[in-house]
Amino acid sequence: MKGGLVVNATGAVAADVLVAGERIAALLVPGFPVEADEVVDATGKYVIPGGIDAHTHMEMPFGGTSSSDTFATGTTAAAWGGTTTIIDFAVQAKGTSLLSTLDKWHAKADGNCAIDYGFHMIVSDVDDSSLKEMASCADAGVNTFKMFMAYPGVFYATDGEILRAMRRAREIGATIMMHAENGIAIDQLVAQALAEGRTDPVEHGLTRPPELEGEATSRAITLARVTGAPLYVVHLSAAQALDAVTRARDTGQNVFAETCPQYLYLSLEDLGRPGFEGAKFVASPPLRPAAHQAELWRGLRTNDLSVVSTDHCPFCFKEQKELGRGDFTKIPNGIPGVEHRIDLLHQGVVRGEISLERWVEICSTTPARMFGLHPRKGVVAPGADADLVVYDPRARQTVSAATHHMNVDYSAYEGMELTGRVEVVLSRGEVVVDGGGFRGSVGHGRFLTRELNQYLR
Ligand code: URP
Ligand code: ZN
Ligand code: ZN
Repeated sequence: MKGGLVVNATGAVAADVLVAGERIAALLVPGFPVEADEVVDATGKYVIPGGIDAHTHMEMPFGGTSSSDTFATGTTAAAWGGTTTIIDFAVQAKGTSLLSTLDKWHAKADGNCAIDYGFHMIVSDVDDSSLKEMASCADAGVNTFKMFMAYPGVFYATDGEILRAMRRAREIGATIMMHAENGIAIDQLVAQALAEGRTDPVEHGLTRPPELEGEATSRAITLARVTGAPLYVVHLSAAQALDAVTRARDTGQNVFAETCPQYLYLSLEDLGRPGFEGAKFVASPPLRPAAHQAELWRGLRTNDLSVVSTDHCPFCFKEQKELGRGDFTKIPNGIPGVEHRIDLLHQGVVRGEISLERWVEICSTTPARMFGLHPRKGVVAPGADADLVVYDPRARQTVSAATHHMNVDYSAYEGMELTGRVEVVLSRGEVVVDGGGFRGSVGHGRFLTRELNQYLR
Protein backbone atom coordinates (compact mmCIF):
# COMPACT_ATOMS: atom_id res chain seq x y z
CA MET A 1 0.00 0.00 0.00
CA LYS A 2 2.04 2.89 -1.33
CA GLY A 3 2.10 6.64 -0.98
CA GLY A 4 -0.45 7.11 1.77
CA LEU A 5 -0.47 8.99 5.04
CA VAL A 6 -0.72 6.31 7.74
CA VAL A 7 -2.97 7.61 10.50
CA ASN A 8 -2.93 5.96 13.89
CA ALA A 9 -4.42 7.23 17.16
CA THR A 10 -0.89 8.22 18.15
CA GLY A 11 -0.03 10.21 15.06
CA ALA A 12 0.17 10.35 11.29
CA VAL A 13 3.21 9.47 9.20
CA ALA A 14 3.88 9.11 5.48
CA ALA A 15 4.68 5.42 5.01
CA ASP A 16 4.19 2.47 2.71
CA VAL A 17 2.49 -0.50 4.34
CA LEU A 18 3.75 -3.97 3.53
CA VAL A 19 1.22 -6.75 3.98
CA ALA A 20 2.20 -10.43 4.14
CA GLY A 21 -0.63 -12.91 4.31
CA GLU A 22 -3.18 -11.77 6.84
CA ARG A 23 -0.92 -9.37 8.68
CA ILE A 24 0.98 -6.15 8.41
CA ALA A 25 4.66 -7.02 7.96
CA ALA A 26 6.21 -3.57 8.03
CA LEU A 27 5.80 0.16 7.71
CA LEU A 28 8.37 1.45 5.23
CA VAL A 29 9.88 4.78 4.32
CA PRO A 30 7.85 5.96 1.30
CA GLY A 31 9.27 4.48 -1.89
CA PHE A 32 11.46 1.91 -0.14
CA PRO A 33 12.00 -0.77 -2.80
CA VAL A 34 10.01 -3.96 -2.21
CA GLU A 35 8.57 -6.57 -4.49
CA ALA A 36 4.85 -7.03 -4.01
CA ASP A 37 2.30 -9.22 -5.79
CA GLU A 38 -0.23 -6.47 -5.66
CA VAL A 39 0.17 -2.73 -5.12
CA VAL A 40 -2.57 -0.49 -3.80
CA ASP A 41 -1.96 3.15 -4.65
CA ALA A 42 -2.80 5.32 -1.66
CA THR A 43 -1.20 8.52 -2.93
CA GLY A 44 -2.90 11.55 -1.45
CA LYS A 45 -5.08 9.34 0.76
CA TYR A 46 -5.12 8.25 4.37
CA VAL A 47 -4.34 4.68 5.39
CA ILE A 48 -6.21 3.93 8.61
CA PRO A 49 -6.90 0.81 10.67
CA GLY A 50 -10.22 -0.80 9.73
CA GLY A 51 -13.14 0.47 11.75
CA ILE A 52 -14.44 -1.45 14.75
CA ASP A 53 -18.15 -1.04 15.35
CA ALA A 54 -18.63 -2.33 18.89
CA HIS A 55 -22.43 -2.10 18.87
CA THR A 56 -24.56 -3.68 16.14
CA HIS A 57 -27.73 -5.75 15.97
CA MET A 58 -27.92 -8.04 12.93
CA GLU A 59 -31.02 -10.26 12.63
CA MET A 60 -32.09 -9.31 16.15
CA PRO A 61 -35.58 -10.30 17.31
CA PHE A 62 -37.50 -7.28 18.59
CA GLY A 63 -41.21 -6.77 19.18
CA GLY A 64 -42.33 -9.69 17.03
CA THR A 65 -40.09 -8.78 14.10
CA SER A 66 -36.35 -8.98 13.39
CA SER A 67 -33.80 -6.35 12.37
CA SER A 68 -33.58 -6.38 8.59
CA ASP A 69 -29.84 -6.90 8.04
CA THR A 70 -28.59 -10.45 8.25
CA PHE A 71 -25.01 -11.06 9.32
CA ALA A 72 -24.26 -11.41 5.60
CA THR A 73 -25.84 -8.17 4.42
CA GLY A 74 -24.89 -6.18 7.51
CA THR A 75 -21.22 -7.10 7.52
CA THR A 76 -21.02 -6.50 3.78
CA ALA A 77 -22.46 -3.01 4.27
CA ALA A 78 -20.02 -2.47 7.15
CA ALA A 79 -17.11 -3.34 4.86
CA TRP A 80 -18.32 -0.85 2.25
CA GLY A 81 -18.09 1.79 4.96
CA GLY A 82 -14.58 0.87 6.10
CA THR A 83 -15.58 -1.17 9.14
CA THR A 84 -13.71 -4.47 9.32
CA THR A 85 -14.89 -5.71 12.72
CA ILE A 86 -18.28 -5.68 14.39
CA ILE A 87 -19.24 -6.72 17.88
CA ASP A 88 -22.88 -7.78 17.85
CA PHE A 89 -25.19 -8.68 20.72
CA ALA A 90 -26.34 -12.21 21.51
CA VAL A 91 -29.69 -11.88 23.27
CA GLN A 92 -30.60 -14.25 26.10
CA ALA A 93 -34.30 -15.12 25.81
CA LYS A 94 -35.90 -15.40 29.23
CA GLY A 95 -35.74 -18.95 30.55
CA THR A 96 -32.79 -19.97 28.39
CA SER A 97 -29.10 -20.25 29.26
CA LEU A 98 -26.30 -17.91 28.26
CA LEU A 99 -24.32 -20.69 26.60
CA SER A 100 -27.27 -21.88 24.51
CA THR A 101 -27.75 -18.23 23.51
CA LEU A 102 -24.15 -18.09 22.38
CA ASP A 103 -24.68 -21.25 20.31
CA LYS A 104 -27.75 -19.69 18.74
CA TRP A 105 -25.84 -16.56 17.72
CA HIS A 106 -22.93 -18.59 16.39
CA ALA A 107 -25.44 -20.50 14.24
CA LYS A 108 -26.64 -17.22 12.75
CA ALA A 109 -23.24 -15.62 12.23
CA ASP A 110 -20.67 -18.36 11.64
CA GLY A 111 -19.84 -18.69 7.95
CA ASN A 112 -22.08 -15.73 7.14
CA CYS A 113 -19.91 -12.71 7.83
CA ALA A 114 -17.83 -10.75 5.33
CA ILE A 115 -15.64 -9.27 8.10
CA ASP A 116 -14.48 -10.38 11.54
CA TYR A 117 -16.98 -10.34 14.37
CA GLY A 118 -17.35 -10.84 18.07
CA PHE A 119 -20.26 -10.93 20.49
CA HIS A 120 -21.41 -9.22 23.64
CA MET A 121 -24.06 -10.99 25.73
CA ILE A 122 -27.37 -9.44 26.73
CA VAL A 123 -28.35 -10.88 30.10
CA SER A 124 -32.14 -11.05 30.51
CA ASP A 125 -32.32 -13.43 33.51
CA VAL A 126 -30.10 -12.50 36.41
CA ASP A 127 -30.12 -15.70 38.46
CA ASP A 128 -27.58 -18.09 39.92
CA SER A 129 -27.12 -20.06 36.73
CA SER A 130 -26.67 -16.99 34.49
CA LEU A 131 -24.21 -15.49 36.94
CA LYS A 132 -22.27 -18.73 36.98
CA GLU A 133 -22.31 -18.96 33.19
CA MET A 134 -20.81 -15.49 32.80
CA ALA A 135 -17.40 -17.07 33.42
CA SER A 136 -18.01 -19.70 30.73
CA CYS A 137 -18.98 -16.93 28.30
CA ALA A 138 -15.75 -15.11 29.12
CA ASP A 139 -13.83 -18.35 28.43
CA ALA A 140 -15.62 -18.50 25.07
CA GLY A 141 -14.39 -14.99 24.20
CA VAL A 142 -17.48 -13.05 25.28
CA ASN A 143 -16.65 -11.01 28.37
CA THR A 144 -18.95 -8.00 28.06
CA PHE A 145 -22.51 -8.22 29.35
CA LYS A 146 -25.25 -5.77 28.52
CA MET A 147 -28.04 -5.01 30.93
CA PHE A 148 -31.10 -2.77 30.69
CA MET A 149 -32.55 -0.24 33.08
CA ALA A 150 -35.24 0.29 30.41
CA TYR A 151 -37.91 -2.00 28.88
CA PRO A 152 -39.71 -3.31 32.02
CA GLY A 153 -41.08 -6.79 31.41
CA VAL A 154 -38.65 -7.44 28.57
CA PHE A 155 -34.97 -6.84 29.32
CA TYR A 156 -35.35 -4.70 32.44
CA ALA A 157 -33.12 -5.55 35.41
CA THR A 158 -33.72 -4.27 38.93
CA ASP A 159 -31.00 -2.41 40.81
CA GLY A 160 -30.50 -5.56 42.88
CA GLU A 161 -30.00 -7.68 39.79
CA ILE A 162 -27.62 -5.13 38.34
CA LEU A 163 -25.66 -5.11 41.58
CA ARG A 164 -25.36 -8.89 41.54
CA ALA A 165 -24.22 -8.97 37.92
CA MET A 166 -21.71 -6.22 38.56
CA ARG A 167 -20.28 -8.07 41.54
CA ARG A 168 -19.86 -11.11 39.34
CA ALA A 169 -18.30 -9.05 36.57
CA ARG A 170 -15.84 -7.62 39.04
CA GLU A 171 -14.99 -11.16 40.19
CA ILE A 172 -14.20 -12.49 36.71
CA GLY A 173 -12.74 -9.31 35.19
CA ALA A 174 -15.65 -8.72 32.84
CA THR A 175 -17.36 -5.45 31.96
CA ILE A 176 -21.04 -4.53 32.33
CA MET A 177 -22.52 -2.50 29.50
CA MET A 178 -25.57 -0.50 30.48
CA HIS A 179 -28.63 0.71 28.64
CA ALA A 180 -29.25 3.56 31.06
CA GLU A 181 -32.78 4.93 30.89
CA ASN A 182 -35.24 4.85 33.79
CA GLY A 183 -37.76 2.43 32.25
CA ILE A 184 -40.15 2.43 35.20
CA ALA A 185 -40.67 6.20 35.00
CA ILE A 186 -40.74 6.10 31.19
CA ASP A 187 -43.53 3.54 31.22
CA GLN A 188 -45.69 5.93 33.25
CA LEU A 189 -45.05 8.78 30.81
CA VAL A 190 -45.88 6.45 27.94
CA ALA A 191 -49.15 5.31 29.56
CA GLN A 192 -50.10 8.94 30.11
CA ALA A 193 -49.37 9.85 26.47
CA LEU A 194 -51.45 6.97 25.15
CA ALA A 195 -54.31 7.80 27.54
CA GLU A 196 -54.30 11.32 26.14
CA GLY A 197 -54.37 10.03 22.57
CA ARG A 198 -50.81 11.15 21.77
CA THR A 199 -49.62 8.39 19.44
CA ASP A 200 -47.22 9.99 16.90
CA PRO A 201 -43.55 8.94 16.61
CA VAL A 202 -42.40 12.17 18.27
CA GLU A 203 -44.05 10.97 21.50
CA HIS A 204 -41.37 8.28 21.67
CA GLY A 205 -38.90 11.10 22.31
CA LEU A 206 -41.16 13.18 24.55
CA THR A 207 -41.89 10.24 26.87
CA ARG A 208 -38.19 9.43 27.32
CA PRO A 209 -36.80 12.76 28.58
CA PRO A 210 -33.04 13.24 28.86
CA GLU A 211 -33.31 13.62 32.65
CA LEU A 212 -34.32 9.96 32.88
CA GLU A 213 -31.18 8.97 31.00
CA GLY A 214 -29.14 11.18 33.31
CA GLU A 215 -30.73 9.63 36.39
CA ALA A 216 -30.23 6.05 35.22
CA THR A 217 -26.65 6.76 34.19
CA SER A 218 -25.88 8.18 37.65
CA ARG A 219 -27.51 5.16 39.28
CA ALA A 220 -25.54 2.72 37.14
CA ILE A 221 -22.35 4.58 37.99
CA THR A 222 -23.19 4.41 41.69
CA LEU A 223 -23.84 0.66 41.53
CA ALA A 224 -20.57 0.19 39.64
CA ARG A 225 -18.75 2.21 42.26
CA VAL A 226 -20.21 0.16 45.11
CA THR A 227 -19.21 -3.11 43.43
CA GLY A 228 -15.90 -1.96 41.96
CA ALA A 229 -16.91 -3.19 38.52
CA PRO A 230 -15.96 -1.32 35.36
CA LEU A 231 -18.93 0.18 33.53
CA TYR A 232 -19.43 0.93 29.85
CA VAL A 233 -22.47 3.09 29.13
CA VAL A 234 -23.84 2.30 25.68
CA HIS A 235 -25.48 4.72 23.21
CA LEU A 236 -25.18 7.79 25.44
CA SER A 237 -27.36 10.55 23.98
CA ALA A 238 -28.04 13.19 26.64
CA ALA A 239 -25.94 15.97 28.17
CA GLN A 240 -27.25 14.95 31.61
CA ALA A 241 -25.86 11.44 31.17
CA LEU A 242 -22.55 12.80 29.91
CA ASP A 243 -22.31 15.02 32.99
CA ALA A 244 -22.66 11.96 35.20
CA VAL A 245 -19.97 10.08 33.26
CA THR A 246 -17.66 13.08 33.31
CA ARG A 247 -18.00 13.49 37.09
CA ALA A 248 -17.31 9.79 37.67
CA ARG A 249 -14.26 9.82 35.43
CA ASP A 250 -12.96 12.92 37.19
CA THR A 251 -12.86 10.86 40.38
CA GLY A 252 -10.92 8.12 38.60
CA GLN A 253 -13.75 5.59 38.39
CA ASN A 254 -13.58 3.01 35.60
CA VAL A 255 -16.58 4.41 33.72
CA PHE A 256 -16.58 4.63 29.95
CA ALA A 257 -19.20 5.65 27.43
CA GLU A 258 -19.93 5.51 23.74
CA THR A 259 -22.19 7.69 21.69
CA CYS A 260 -23.56 7.07 18.18
CA PRO A 261 -23.61 9.09 14.95
CA GLN A 262 -27.38 9.57 15.15
CA TYR A 263 -26.99 11.53 18.38
CA LEU A 264 -24.31 13.71 16.80
CA TYR A 265 -26.13 14.47 13.56
CA LEU A 266 -29.88 13.95 14.06
CA SER A 267 -32.29 15.44 16.57
CA LEU A 268 -35.75 15.40 18.10
CA GLU A 269 -36.82 17.50 15.13
CA ASP A 270 -36.30 14.48 12.90
CA LEU A 271 -38.55 12.42 15.17
CA GLY A 272 -41.13 15.14 14.70
CA ARG A 273 -41.09 15.03 10.89
CA PRO A 274 -44.63 15.20 9.50
CA GLY A 275 -46.77 12.20 8.66
CA PHE A 276 -45.24 8.97 9.87
CA GLU A 277 -41.71 9.93 8.68
CA GLY A 278 -40.57 10.31 12.28
CA ALA A 279 -40.79 6.52 12.70
CA LYS A 280 -37.54 6.23 10.73
CA PHE A 281 -35.80 7.92 13.66
CA VAL A 282 -37.25 5.92 16.55
CA ALA A 283 -34.50 4.39 18.67
CA SER A 284 -33.80 4.23 22.38
CA PRO A 285 -32.51 6.43 23.88
CA PRO A 286 -34.37 8.80 21.56
CA LEU A 287 -32.89 11.56 19.44
CA ARG A 288 -32.44 14.66 21.58
CA PRO A 289 -32.92 18.40 21.01
CA ALA A 290 -30.02 19.61 18.84
CA ALA A 291 -28.41 21.47 21.78
CA HIS A 292 -27.15 18.13 23.13
CA GLN A 293 -24.92 17.62 20.09
CA ALA A 294 -22.31 20.22 21.07
CA GLU A 295 -22.00 18.55 24.47
CA LEU A 296 -21.39 15.16 22.85
CA TRP A 297 -18.67 16.60 20.62
CA ARG A 298 -17.11 18.11 23.74
CA GLY A 299 -17.20 14.64 25.33
CA LEU A 300 -15.49 13.12 22.31
CA ARG A 301 -12.70 15.68 22.54
CA THR A 302 -12.12 15.23 26.27
CA ASN A 303 -12.44 11.42 26.19
CA ASP A 304 -15.45 11.43 28.49
CA LEU A 305 -16.91 9.70 25.44
CA SER A 306 -14.35 7.11 24.39
CA VAL A 307 -16.00 5.36 21.47
CA VAL A 308 -18.48 5.93 18.66
CA SER A 309 -20.48 2.85 17.70
CA THR A 310 -23.58 2.79 15.53
CA ASP A 311 -26.14 0.75 17.50
CA HIS A 312 -27.02 -0.33 13.96
CA CYS A 313 -30.48 -1.84 14.28
CA PRO A 314 -32.33 -1.54 10.96
CA PHE A 315 -36.06 -1.98 10.47
CA CYS A 316 -37.66 -1.30 7.10
CA PHE A 317 -39.93 1.72 6.96
CA LYS A 318 -42.57 0.08 4.78
CA GLU A 319 -43.26 -3.17 6.61
CA GLN A 320 -41.60 -2.89 10.00
CA LYS A 321 -41.73 0.69 11.26
CA GLU A 322 -45.32 0.58 9.95
CA LEU A 323 -46.25 -1.71 12.87
CA GLY A 324 -46.37 1.41 15.04
CA ARG A 325 -48.63 3.62 12.94
CA GLY A 326 -51.23 4.91 15.39
CA ASP A 327 -49.21 3.71 18.40
CA PHE A 328 -45.61 4.85 18.74
CA THR A 329 -44.90 2.14 21.33
CA LYS A 330 -45.19 -0.49 18.57
CA ILE A 331 -42.55 1.08 16.32
CA PRO A 332 -39.53 -1.27 16.36
CA ASN A 333 -36.64 0.61 18.02
CA GLY A 334 -33.52 1.17 16.00
CA ILE A 335 -31.74 3.21 13.33
CA PRO A 336 -29.51 1.82 10.55
CA GLY A 337 -25.98 3.18 10.22
CA VAL A 338 -23.23 0.55 10.18
CA GLU A 339 -22.16 1.68 6.71
CA HIS A 340 -21.75 5.39 7.49
CA ARG A 341 -20.05 5.70 10.87
CA ILE A 342 -16.56 6.39 9.57
CA ASP A 343 -17.74 8.86 6.93
CA LEU A 344 -20.03 10.67 9.37
CA LEU A 345 -17.33 10.99 11.99
CA HIS A 346 -14.92 12.23 9.34
CA GLN A 347 -17.17 15.30 9.09
CA GLY A 348 -16.05 16.01 12.65
CA VAL A 349 -12.48 16.22 11.32
CA VAL A 350 -13.57 18.38 8.38
CA ARG A 351 -15.40 20.79 10.72
CA GLY A 352 -12.57 20.90 13.24
CA GLU A 353 -14.51 19.20 16.04
CA ILE A 354 -11.92 16.42 16.43
CA SER A 355 -8.44 15.74 15.11
CA LEU A 356 -7.57 13.20 12.44
CA GLU A 357 -5.93 10.99 15.07
CA ARG A 358 -8.92 11.24 17.39
CA TRP A 359 -11.17 10.11 14.53
CA VAL A 360 -9.13 6.92 14.21
CA GLU A 361 -9.03 6.49 17.96
CA ILE A 362 -12.79 6.64 18.54
CA CYS A 363 -13.66 4.59 15.45
CA SER A 364 -11.04 1.87 15.80
CA THR A 365 -8.23 2.03 18.35
CA THR A 366 -10.20 2.53 21.55
CA PRO A 367 -12.90 -0.03 20.73
CA ALA A 368 -10.08 -2.50 20.05
CA ARG A 369 -8.48 -1.79 23.43
CA MET A 370 -11.74 -1.57 25.34
CA PHE A 371 -13.00 -4.88 24.02
CA GLY A 372 -9.88 -7.01 24.11
CA LEU A 373 -8.89 -6.93 20.43
CA HIS A 374 -5.74 -4.80 20.64
CA PRO A 375 -3.02 -4.97 19.28
CA ARG A 376 -4.40 -7.41 16.74
CA LYS A 377 -6.95 -4.81 15.66
CA GLY A 378 -7.21 -1.04 15.85
CA VAL A 379 -3.71 -0.08 14.79
CA VAL A 380 -1.59 0.07 11.65
CA ALA A 381 1.56 -1.59 12.96
CA PRO A 382 3.74 -4.63 12.22
CA GLY A 383 2.08 -7.79 13.48
CA ALA A 384 -1.45 -6.40 13.49
CA ASP A 385 -4.11 -7.93 11.26
CA ALA A 386 -4.03 -6.25 7.87
CA ASP A 387 -7.45 -4.64 8.33
CA LEU A 388 -6.78 -1.47 6.39
CA VAL A 389 -8.77 1.31 4.80
CA VAL A 390 -7.59 3.70 2.12
CA TYR A 391 -9.62 6.83 2.75
CA ASP A 392 -9.91 9.68 0.26
CA PRO A 393 -10.40 12.79 2.41
CA ARG A 394 -11.40 15.03 -0.48
CA ALA A 395 -14.00 12.88 -2.30
CA ARG A 396 -17.60 14.00 -2.04
CA GLN A 397 -20.63 11.79 -1.65
CA THR A 398 -24.34 12.05 -0.96
CA VAL A 399 -25.86 9.47 1.37
CA SER A 400 -28.93 7.71 0.01
CA ALA A 401 -30.90 4.51 0.42
CA ALA A 402 -30.68 4.26 -3.37
CA THR A 403 -26.94 3.65 -3.15
CA HIS A 404 -26.26 2.22 0.32
CA HIS A 405 -25.69 -1.50 0.87
CA MET A 406 -27.59 -2.06 4.10
CA ASN A 407 -30.70 -4.19 3.72
CA VAL A 408 -33.15 -1.46 4.69
CA ASP A 409 -35.45 0.67 2.58
CA TYR A 410 -34.50 4.11 3.91
CA SER A 411 -31.52 6.10 5.13
CA ALA A 412 -31.68 8.19 8.28
CA TYR A 413 -29.10 10.43 6.56
CA GLU A 414 -30.85 10.66 3.16
CA GLY A 415 -29.44 13.53 1.08
CA MET A 416 -26.65 14.38 3.50
CA GLU A 417 -23.55 15.56 1.63
CA LEU A 418 -20.30 14.24 3.01
CA THR A 419 -16.64 15.00 2.44
CA GLY A 420 -14.43 11.92 2.33
CA ARG A 421 -14.97 8.40 1.13
CA VAL A 422 -13.72 4.89 1.68
CA GLU A 423 -11.79 3.74 -1.37
CA VAL A 424 -10.14 0.41 -0.62
CA VAL A 425 -10.74 -1.96 2.29
CA LEU A 426 -8.61 -4.92 3.33
CA SER A 427 -9.78 -7.50 5.84
CA ARG A 428 -6.90 -9.65 7.09
CA GLY A 429 -4.94 -8.91 3.94
CA GLU A 430 -7.76 -9.57 1.49
CA VAL A 431 -9.15 -6.78 -0.60
CA VAL A 432 -12.86 -6.73 0.21
CA VAL A 433 -13.79 -3.36 -1.26
CA ASP A 434 -12.00 -1.70 -4.15
CA GLY A 435 -13.26 1.59 -5.52
CA GLY A 436 -16.68 0.85 -6.85
CA GLY A 437 -16.77 -2.89 -6.21
CA PHE A 438 -17.21 -5.46 -3.49
CA ARG A 439 -14.51 -8.10 -3.79
CA GLY A 440 -14.99 -9.82 -0.47
CA SER A 441 -16.96 -12.90 0.36
CA VAL A 442 -19.50 -13.83 2.95
CA GLY A 443 -17.79 -16.47 5.09
CA HIS A 444 -14.40 -14.74 5.10
CA GLY A 445 -15.18 -13.17 8.48
CA ARG A 446 -13.93 -15.02 11.55
CA PHE A 447 -15.24 -15.08 15.09
CA LEU A 448 -12.97 -13.15 17.43
CA THR A 449 -12.51 -14.44 20.94
CA ARG A 450 -11.81 -11.35 22.97
CA GLU A 451 -9.32 -11.07 25.81
CA LEU A 452 -10.29 -9.76 29.22
CA ASN A 453 -9.32 -6.13 29.38
CA GLN A 454 -6.55 -5.86 31.98
CA TYR A 455 -6.68 -2.10 31.70
CA LEU A 456 -10.17 -2.08 33.22
CA ARG A 457 -9.33 -4.08 36.32
O1 URP B 1 -33.35 1.43 19.81
C1 URP B 1 -32.37 0.73 19.90
N1 URP B 1 -31.24 1.23 20.33
N2 URP B 1 -32.44 -0.57 19.55
C2 URP B 1 -31.44 -1.51 19.74
C3 URP B 1 -31.45 -2.13 21.11
C4 URP B 1 -30.68 -1.32 22.12
O2 URP B 1 -31.25 -0.95 23.13
O3 URP B 1 -29.50 -1.06 21.91
ZN1 ZN C 1 -29.70 -0.35 24.40
ZN1 ZN D 1 -28.14 -1.52 20.77
